[in-house]
This record gives sequence, structure tokens and C-alpha cells, in this order.
Amino acid sequence: MASIAEKIRSLARQQNAVILAHTYQPADVQDVADYVGDSYGLSIEASRTPADIIVFCGVMFMAETAAILNPKKRVLIPEPGAGCPMADMITADELSRLKVQYPGHIVVCYVNSTADIKALSDICCTSSNALRIVQKIPADRGVIFVPDKHLGGWVQEKTGRSMVLWDGFCPTHARITPDLITAVRAQHPEATVLIHPEAPKASRDLADHVFSTGGMCDFVKKDGNREYIIATETGIIHTLSKQNPGKRFYAVSEHALCPNMKKISIELVAETLEGAAGQVVAVPEEIAAKARRSLSKMIEMSS
Ligand code: 13P
Ligand code: SF4
Repeated sequence: MASIAEKIRSLARQQNAVILAHTYQPADVQDVADYVGDSYGLSIEASRTPADIIVFCGVMFMAETAAILNPKKRVLIPEPGAGCPMADMITADELSRLKVQYPGHIVVCYVNSTADIKALSDICCTSSNALRIVQKIPADRGVIFVPDKHLGGWVQEKTGRSMVLWDGFCPTHARITPDLITAVRAQHPEATVLIHPEAPKASRDLADHVFSTGGMCDFVKKDGNREYIIATETGIIHTLSKQNPGKRFYAVSEHALCPNMKKISIELVAETLEGAAGQVVAVPEEIAAKARRSLSKMIEMSS
């Protein structure tokens, strides 16, 4: 009997579907995907794929981004309830009010935001290109950064720019406390500590390097050490271990889990391709057209 992974691969071939998965996805979902990456890599892959259907294994804002960049494609999310609490921490009304309060400011929104927020923003960014993008904004222009205060704070520190930060945050990364880092470092003193910029400053300050998930993967491939403490969602340990056999990875905490990322299962991916689960991701064209502008600006400014 064919395994569930074989069934998925065969259904994907028949339907000319591509399966994209974030590095926080469960291991078996990553293993069955055509492409595994960070949110920037996934949006680029979504904009390049010749497939007719994109099965997006990640949270809703990522699937929405794929749909916005590919208005002619069918984008399916296996679990429409996979949201991102940080993306829901700012509403369109709140951002509109902020824009009135700070006229003339450039609005940079983290990709972890709703389509409405992207539509109201000038430039989108991910954690892999936020620094480069803010550095390219003329120094005499103010910057509003939404919704992540930690990523925004890190960009502020690194660029020396003073920015208006919204008070959003990621509940999963908020659980990565300085005490946890200190305790795991004491257990593995030779390991290099890599942390995501969504983690709070006090924790970032104890790490060796701050990277997006894609940045972590690129760094580890080239780096000479053999042991790493990973201070982000634990799903990426599967990605890193596959890419670097022989290196060891320690989760900063087994509780650094994103419950929404884990709502997607290999069974749901199979059922989505069979038409028994999942949802078509639809963004009204009026919103999508505006959101596409801020995403295109991000892609243009990232090169
Ligand atoms: P990346 O941009 O590093 O993929 O991160 C996305 C995310 O949701 C982190 O919590
Ligand atoms: Fe959102 Fe945090 Fe989950 Fe990333 S890890 S999708 S920011 S809740």
C-alpha cells in the first residue's frame, strides 16, 4: 500500500500542485514538501512557481501573501484556522489612526500581518530583509513599523533610526526568556546560540547571532562549529538537522512551539489535495492590489 507521503506526491503530480512548507511545520509535512523555507523564500517561491495550485503549509498570512502575489493561481491552506496572533494585534483602523498621527512617515509592515495592513503600508518586510529595507529609506523620513515591537526594536538598534513601533509581539518567541538561554548555554558551553529577532531584547542580547529562520539555515551551512542552541520555534531543528548531518542542535525550550504552525498535519495535506479539507485562500482584489504594491516594493528593495 502506498504511504501517505507517496499518495501526496502522486496527487500533487496529477494536479500540477506545488507544496510549500515553512521551517516551523511538523517534520513529516516538511519532508513531503517541494520547498521548505522562511517566509521570504516562500513568497519568492510562490511568485516563481509554474504550478497551477499552491498548497501552502504555514500560517494564514503566508498563504495570503502567496495568493496576493499569484492572483491567477489557486492557493490552498490545509487548515484555515492556522492564524498568527501577532498578525491580529493591529487592525486597519489602528494603523489608519497611526498614519494620521505621524503624517509623512513611511509605513513598513512585517509580513506577519493581515492583507488589510499590507494594503495600508508602503513597504512590507520579513525578518530576513527588514534591516536592508529600513537602511534604504531616506534618513530624513520617519518610519512607522508594525506590528512586531521586537523585530522593530532590533532594526532600530542596528540602524540607529528612531522608529514608531507598534506594541505587537509573538507569544511563542516571548517564551524564550534570558533564563532559558543561560540555562541551556550552561549545559552546552561549546554551542553557538542563534536567536530569531522576534525574541525580546534581553534574550537577544545573550545570543551569539540574531537571524531569520532562513538566515539560521544559511549561517549553519557555512559555519565551522558543530553545536548550536536554537532560540526560535523548534520545527526548524528538523530542517537544520537534515541540512547538516553530523551537527547537533539543541532547542532552547521544547515549549518554543507555535500552536498554529502545528495545526497542519500530513493527513490534512493529503485531504486538501483530495478536496476533503483545506480552503482556497481568497483576498478581495481591491485589497490584494494595494497589498501587492507593498510586497513588490519589498522584493525590489531586497535585491
Ligand atoms: P521567518 O521570516 O524567519 O520565516 O519567520 C516567520 C515567523 O513567523 C517567525 O515567527
Ligand atoms: Fe506568528 Fe509567532 Fe507563530 Fe511566527 S511563531 S507564525 S510570529 S505566532
